[in-house]
Amino acid sequence: MKSVRKAVFPVAGLGTRFLPATKAFAKELLPIVDRPLIQYAVDEAREAGIKQMIFVTGRGKVGLEDYFDIAFELETVMRGRGKSLEMLEPTRSQPGSIASVRQQEPLGLGHAVWCARDIIGDEPFAVLLPDDLMVGKPGCLAQMMQAYDKVGGNIICVQEVPREKTASYGVIAPGTADGKLTEVKGLVEKPRPEDAPSNLAVVGRYILQPEVMRILEDKETGAGGEIQLTDAMAKLIGTQPFHGLTFDGQRHDCGDKTGFVIANIALALDRHDVGPAVRAFIADIA
Ligand code: UTP
Repeated sequence: MKSVRKAVFPVAGLGTRFLPATKAFAKELLPIVDRPLIQYAVDEAREAGIKQMIFVTGRGKVGLEDYFDIAFELETVMRGRGKSLEMLEPTRSQPGSIASVRQQEPLGLGHAVWCARDIIGDEPFAVLLPDDLMVGKPGCLAQMMQAYDKVGGNIICVQEVPREKTASYGVIAPGTADGKLTEVKGLVEKPRPEDAPSNLAVVGRYILQPEVMRILEDKETGAGGEIQLTDAMAKLIGTQPFHGLTFDGQRHDCGDKTGFVIANIALALDRHDVGPAVRAFIADIA
């Protein structure tokens, strides 16, 4: 079984739910307390043993690449003022460990993943959607890697959602379950509640076999006229092992305004520096 060394971060979406904030910069640079969303996702991937990060970017997203580069002027000024550069430590990366490819048009998540096909080559790979902020110990992708070591194949992260919300997600048709691992028998993108095969929704973490790239090559469109990753994954079922892992931890949907605000509060409350003041403020207004 080949190990998973590469991760794709699709970050070429338009982020229309966050306009006007995302008019001139990437949604994935929006901060949760003092770290941008992309930092949490990259940290999670590093913890899971990923060596190569591949950003699928689009116009107006160059800030994401600059973020992981050396900020020469800033560092020179800070050093000159005797300030510590420790805060910049998480933004450092091994030279060559971050690559980026461009998705010229936002044709869908499946298309974004396919844009990374040449860098992925013939290896299994992870996909992380940075706007799903996963808080857990170990991290979500590390939990999925443990499952991958046992069963191999394709592993997607799943979460129970209220039935009335299935139309916002890809939903699995579950087979037999073994603890947190559920066999995936089928996948449907954005089903109406009455058509949904379960209330187990796919959230933004995947470990996939490279064969999915061959299927994405066909550029078939699905729900919303987009090239859907879910539809391509559905075609792998039956040809390779396919499981859903229920993540032991908390997911914040930061692509949504409410989820973003809640994530900021939840992570702030957990911090030694800002937590006490935020807690006192909430108690005061409650
Ligand atoms: P979303 O569905 O959240 O779309 O994409 P979006 O465009 O980012 O945001 P809204 O809905 O307009 O507010 C889920 C993930 O897939 C990426 C996004 O960047 C995000 O990480 N994506 C989506 C692409 O990279 N390319 C696409 O064509 C579509």
